Amino acid sequence: MSTYHIKHLEEYYKVYRKSVREPEVFWEEIAEEHFTWHKKWDNVLEWDFKKPEIKWYQGAKLNITENCIDRHLRTKGSKTAILFEPNNPDEQAEHITYNQLYERVNRFANVLKNEGIKKGDRVCIYLPMIPELALSVLACARIGAIHSVVFAGFSATALSTRINDSDCKIVITSDGSYRGNKTIDLKEIVDEALNDCPGVNSVLVAKRINSEVTMKKSRDKWLQPLLDNASIECEPEIMDAEDPLFILYTSGSTGKPKGMVHTTAGYMVYTAYTFKNVFNYKDNDIYWCTADIGWITGHSYIVYGPLANGATTVMFEGVPSYPDFGRFWEIVEKHKITQFYTAPTAIRALAKENLDYINKYDLSSLKVLGSVGEPINEEAWHWYNDNIGKKKSPIVDTWWQTETGGILISPLPYITPTIPTFASLPLPGIQPCLMDEKGEEITANQIDGRLCIKYPWPSIARTIWGNHQRYKETYFSAYEDKYFTGDGALRDTVGYYRITGRVDDVIIVSGHNLGTAPIEDAINEHPAVAESAVVGFPHDIKGNALYGYVILKETGEGRLHDNLRKEINQMITEHIGSIAKLNKIQFTTGLPKTRSGKIMRRILRKIACNETDNLGDTSTLLNPEVVQEIIDNAL
Ligand code: PRX
Repeated sequence: MSTYHIKHLEEYYKVYRKSVREPEVFWEEIAEEHFTWHKKWDNVLEWDFKKPEIKWYQGAKLNITENCIDRHLRTKGSKTAILFEPNNPDEQAEHITYNQLYERVNRFANVLKNEGIKKGDRVCIYLPMIPELALSVLACARIGAIHSVVFAGFSATALSTRINDSDCKIVITSDGSYRGNKTIDLKEIVDEALNDCPGVNSVLVAKRINSEVTMKKSRDKWLQPLLDNASIECEPEIMDAEDPLFILYTSGSTGKPKGMVHTTAGYMVYTAYTFKNVFNYKDNDIYWCTADIGWITGHSYIVYGPLANGATTVMFEGVPSYPDFGRFWEIVEKHKITQFYTAPTAIRALAKENLDYINKYDLSSLKVLGSVGEPINEEAWHWYNDNIGKKKSPIVDTWWQTETGGILISPLPYITPTIPTFASLPLPGIQPCLMDEKGEEITANQIDGRLCIKYPWPSIARTIWGNHQRYKETYFSAYEDKYFTGDGALRDTVGYYRITGRVDDVIIVSGHNLGTAPIEDAINEHPAVAESAVVGFPHDIKGNALYGYVILKETGEGRLHDNLRKEINQMITEHIGSIAKLNKIQFTTGLPKTRSGKIMRRILRKIACNETDNLGDTSTLLNPEVVQEIIDNAL
């Protein structure tokens, strides 16, 4: 029985049971049937969550780009692999066929080789959503270099931290980027970042907005002439199954960002398998995920998963509001999109606009709608279902994380009956469980618990770059022999999971994962600030927004405070990026603290959410009097 493509609910349950009973047999069959290997594995899985150490397909040899490109050439050479839709709707869309993808990735790979990049070297990619982004990712994989894509909305400081953390040798960027009616000078940001990055001696610059940029002699080169002169043939580097494929940074509740390391074979098998099943991808479909490749969603479900299935994957450069709020739907009609995958925050923003923006367009090509990045609220779910899917396209509410590499819990479209706000059932190979605060597994239903996974799956991140101890502490220490997700969830009577949100100090704002500690660090950099605490509060479009409580070294009034608010947000923009700006800033003379000096965020969260009736026990506070002051001045 081929288990690669599940076709009905009974089959799902059968496959799922097999994947739990005989996980190695299950993942071996999938790997055997659907991929190109230079050598097969000696061992399907070796693992120990205590160390922790996880190895899939050990001994296997492969190159992921052969699986994403070369093997499709014979049958799909002239099929569109990447469909690029520019920011400006008047600019022509670009269809890159599999044949062209082969040539362009090879050229790019040769350029990197000529720059001295070898297997295992780290390459930082800081690009907007233009074809060069996908091409550079694949070019790295072609030669075995480890890519570290940094979302091009991050600031110079955030960029330099990430470059230095993984010791990148080279940066690939562009002169700038388009975002709606604005342009952003990316090269300037890179220049600023590189003042703090002594290890980078080469910068490749793609031309996108034709802005004036300063090119530093002997360091900076325009990309296009190098590509033009490079050969279209580049032998793929033969990789071990467990060789790192990429590093992708994600925020933690404390400390600097975590460089999650994903390896080659398991990641490839899992993203390919889940793409096929979660989106029910069929040969002539045109699949569009609106994420940015700077996030895991873009890595797994714009680049690797779709291409490993020989799919057509759309890359959109722009924003949903430009030139107007109908842009997404215009693109759906124009390219006859069959699968559309976006974030709840985008859905909520568009749901606020007039339905005329939708009704102008023919959306009848749509077959599957996806949601990712944060819990989708019931209202947004219904709006999406009624107005975009016209009640005919199932919604797949996909739960997963940067660390998981691929989707772990999701309905299968046309197979799993959906319930709004429930991510529903675990995909084959995934063994979730809920734990209570005492560390016991919750076996009953309808009880809120902490979501853990009991058994490894092929695309779990293997470590944090340069800090295996932190990997162990963050994910494998809360509960013995379990991967802890950091999310809360509950399970209903039929086994459906509903994700309730983070249980740590990570706040998801517009689908972006933000740790409170780095934001507080940025605020505290302001010379007038003594201390700060950041919490989340519900926001009708962003899902959550940020509320900062700030203690000033010297108190001031009125206008001074307004200026300080601007400066504090400017500080955050410089250190992290504008995605982490605070919506509300309250100045206070103190923060509620425990006797051991820990800030009681629970209380601050309640005040920010305007739930001051029941603040819980405040008797253990060192300074209970400050609570009333904070309530009285709450914004
Ligand atoms: O809290 C969960 C939320 O996003 C977190 C992971 O964020 P990140 O690593 O940036 O990856 C986002 C894209 C995969 C999770 O711990 N999250 C993601 N998808 C969902 C979700 N929360 C509820 N429902 C979802 N479908």
